[in-house]
Amino acid sequence: MKNEHIISVYDDPEALSRAAAELFSAEARSAVQARGRFAVALSGGGTPRRAYEHLAQDPFRELVPWQNTHIFWGDERCVPGDDPRSNARMALQTLLDHVPIPSEQIHPMICDRSRLKAAVEYEALLRVFFAAGRPRFDLILLGLGENGHTASLFPGTSVLEEQRRWVSEVHVAEEGLHRLTLTAAAINQAELVVFLVSGADKAPILRKVLDEALDPHSIPAQLIKPVDGRLLWLVDRDAASLLQQRKDGNP
Ligand code: 6PG
Repeated sequence: MKNEHIISVYDDPEALSRAAAELFSAEARSAVQARGRFAVALSGGGTPRRAYEHLAQDPFRELVPWQNTHIFWGDERCVPGDDPRSNARMALQTLLDHVPIPSEQIHPMICDRSRLKAAVEYEALLRVFFAAGRPRFDLILLGLGENGHTASLFPGTSVLEEQRRWVSEVHVAEEGLHRLTLTAAAINQAELVVFLVSGADKAPILRKVLDEALDPHSIPAQLIKPVDGRLLWLVDRDAASLLQQRKDGNP
């Protein structure tokens, strides 16, 4: 069964990363024009790294209204801030340390103490920021794991059923790591959600997410369906190599 998704396919990871930087800067400008601020949740993992590097350089660096930009994260690994596995560390090193964004507008997920407390505190921060009562991010960037996880929504974990909380702690047994994550319910309140997917190793799971039967408990990325927002897939040709042809000729 084919779900109708908006998928843009790029020749290679570099073209994909440039397109992601273009989209980020365009969404930032239109959000600030419309609402005076741009609230974005960054993704971790390796795929967005090059897009972050592009955003730290011209022309994109000049095009983003950093003074009105607020940076959040979709998920984080519960490791010290200087740990190479830290998503915040990666984004600081590739982007945030190189652009004129006020430091008080950078909101990392800190979970070096009780994870439950850390999740509750990050949600409290979001509820203050989104005073209207829904986590209406202007943009949420997501990746896709080979097992179908996105953010830190892993197959078979109880967080997948969460409907009330915006942020939850997760224990990922297979990697022996605790994580914090936005819940699917919170992600689906966004204006725009963008998946970045690159590489042949992601082709089988991308096909499962987009072309096969809905089974979100084993393929959590299928939980992402913005209630009144847009969902875009920016993928490279290798990742798209197993997708079925669609009416518009695109995979
Ligand atoms: C994380 C991410 C996670 C990531 C996928 C894909 O903290 O690990 O947020 O959801 O996006 O695991 O990771 P890669 O881009 O490295 O393949």
